[in-house]
Amino acid sequence: MRLATAADLPLVFAWRNSDWIVSLGTLNRKVTLAEHTAWFTRVVASPDWLFYIPTLTTSAGDVPIGTVRFARTLAAAEVSIYLQRDYIGQGLGTRALRLGCEMAFAAWPIAQIDAEILPTNQASVASFSKVGFVPNPTKTDADILHYVLPRT
Ligand SMILES: CC(C)(COP(=O)(O)OP(=O)(O)OC[C@H]1O[C@@H](n2cnc3c(N)ncnc32)[C@H](O)[C@@H]1OP(=O)(O)O)[C@@H](O)C(=O)NCCC(=O)NCCS
Repeated sequence: MRLATAADLPLVFAWRNSDWIVSLGTLNRKVTLAEHTAWFTRVVASPDWLFYIPTLTTSAGDVPIGTVRFARTLAAAEVSIYLQRDYIGQGLGTRALRLGCEMAFAAWPIAQIDAEILPTNQASVASFSKVGFVPNPTKTDADILHYVLPRT
């Protein structure tokens, strides 16, 4: 897993606008290159973001397979993750999520990592639970599940 750099802008733009990511429903429209450039440039340079690209080592070299992002608030960080469609369901996202959370806890003095999951996304619930996330007892919402991973 490596940190994203400015050079990853075109790759992440293509991923962001792929039918797969748009179909996930959390951001259900494509973005323009100008919108993406403003957002990506800001977050990659921000001390309040950790933007990782998990990679898979193959005989052809390291292949980027998705993104794991942490946005720091006061005493917490919010995580979001996606893998490209070809790589889901093989344990790779769970591994990337676990590693990313370890790296975020090591980088920042945060007490917890928060996640929002659509109730229909049972694969995501399973993956986050395997990493140690639990339902957040302080946050309830009708249409979104709030999960939390406390620092141990
Ligand atoms: C969520 C995501 C990161 C998980 O990574 P992954 O590598 O696919 O996860 P895993 O292969 O470890 O699978 C996680 C678990 O979900 C289970 N699972 C898979 N599809 C499922 C489904 N449709 N319903 C219920 N459970 C499912 C798997 O069986 C596995 O559990 P197990 O190991 O006990 O068998 C990845 O699937 C992904 O990027 N999805 C699209 C983007 C997304 O949903 N992001 C999260 C938004 S909160």
